[in-house]
Amino acid sequence: MSQKGQSGLDQRGFVSVADYEAGELLDLLFRAQHLKRLHHEGESCQSLRGRTLAMYFEKPSLRTHVTFEAGVTQLGGHAILLRPEQVGIGTRETPRDVARALSRWVHGIMARTFSHSLVEQLAREASIPVINGLTDFLHPCQAMADLLTMSEKREPTSSTLAYVGDGNNVAHSLVLLGAVLGFRVQLATPLSHTISPRVRQLAEDLASKSGAEILCTEDAREAVKGADFIYTDTWTSMGQEDEAEPRRKIFAPYQVNTGLLEVAPEAWVMHCMPAHRGEEITDEVLDGPRSLVYDQAENRLHAQKAILEYVMA
Ligand code: NVA
Repeated sequence: MSQKGQSGLDQRGFVSVADYEAGELLDLLFRAQHLKRLHHEGESCQSLRGRTLAMYFEKPSLRTHVTFEAGVTQLGGHAILLRPEQVGIGTRETPRDVARALSRWVHGIMARTFSHSLVEQLAREASIPVINGLTDFLHPCQAMADLLTMSEKREPTSSTLAYVGDGNNVAHSLVLLGAVLGFRVQLATPLSHTISPRVRQLAEDLASKSGAEILCTEDAREAVKGADFIYTDTWTSMGQEDEAEPRRKIFAPYQVNTGLLEVAPEAWVMHCMPAHRGEEITDEVLDGPRSLVYDQAENRLHAQKAILEYVMA
């Protein structure tokens, strides 16, 4: 998905999980597991000492902001927060000039933007690594935290992940993760809001090598059958707030509730959050014994520390 992964430029960022080989993603997973252990034992690892990350946010953020900033600090580095009104990408300066100037001062850029092509452009123009902190199209750091969370319950590469709801950025990154690593992904979305054809094609190409299986259906119950993990996300992503009302109607059959969980009695429940309680997921399920949502939130920290080290250390 990023030009960088394919072009062989020096500085490799983390724009899409599809830019990485299965072995590399597993190395990141093992490093994240190790960093998590160290963190819990109170051991510090100073692999980013003297390194600075610029963090650019066009959209709101709790988990991404806090975990990137805390993660860099814990690794001995420093993070600078940049807001769009301060930087003015596209109004005050071109993406190219911002990327090139930042490349002279800091060691990495983490960007959360509306348009995916802006992150790709920053990644092309910068001579430092660019990490995708969420775009309208992908959310790769979340997918890596989810892989870590899955690994704490089951063997992720032989698991079945069911995703129920909107075929959005989170769904895209999970499908690509499964396609690279070879696990089964069963997606239930309305036909009108299924995953992008570009992602589906790439996932199918990757799956033909990895042995992954990808099922796309409109039926939530069909998707969760046999699942080890049931995943959902908001029906209205950031930037789609005007569509919230019609979306509530379209997605009503896709709520993750106790009735749906009965179809997969062994499955764990996942959500990247923020959650809209009573919409895509009920309180009962989100706060229930099968919910992994706070583990996922915690694991953002450890998974991203592994990514930061991998691209910036
Ligand atoms: N799909 C959601 C994910 C939030 C972490 C959004 O883009 O708003």
